[in-house]
Amino acid sequence: MQAPPPYKELLAEVLITEEQLQKRIAELGSEISRDYQGKEILLICILRGGIMFLTDLMRQLTIPHAVDFMAVSSYGTGARESSGQVRINMDLSMDIKDRHVLLVEDIVDSGNTIASVLALLESRQPASLKVCTLLDKAEARKAEVPIHYTGFHIPAKFVFGYGLDLDEYYRNLPFIGVVDLTKYSPPK
Ligand code: IMP
Ligand code: MG
Repeated sequence: MQAPPPYKELLAEVLITEEQLQKRIAELGSEISRDYQGKEILLICILRGGIMFLTDLMRQLTIPHAVDFMAVSSYGTGARESSGQVRINMDLSMDIKDRHVLLVEDIVDSGNTIASVLALLESRQPASLKVCTLLDKAEARKAEVPIHYTGFHIPAKFVFGYGLDLDEYYRNLPFIGVVDLTKYSPPK
């Protein structure tokens, strides 16, 4: 397999800097802590894109919280658009019944992923169910989904970094960058 090129070769522009991300996440953390004052929450992270956001957001929460993970697949490698179908690859390990659940997502694009996950979680009767997404690509929305906390609204461009991947690479970048797709050829 061919090694992926250095990120600079594919970076069209830095869309959100590390400082901007951290500042906004601190604000979201305060807002969530305030809204759930006196309650306990369960943060659910959808693997793998949401990991960076989850770990930074947790550090900004002052309310008691547990975390759990689930893995779903929407985009396949090489595909840039999600299908309406979402497959659960790994389910939660905790029972969410009667708990206050906050779904932590990297990005809501078409909305298909979140819509399917919400329907599934709703059927398990949580006390409440809300969505917190770092990025919202509202222009690309196909399925209507309720979003309670949004980090940033972004244009309908393909982005990478801070948990978001380009064919599984570049998740480690501390900022969100726009990918110049004309300079990229997906692995065969
Ligand atoms: P949706 O089902 O179209 O809303 O897609 C959601 C999932 O697609 C996200 O959780 C991401 O994993 C992925 N995704 C959507 N847009 C981007 C992007 O610009 N860069 C990287 N991954 C993306
Ligand atoms: Mg992805």
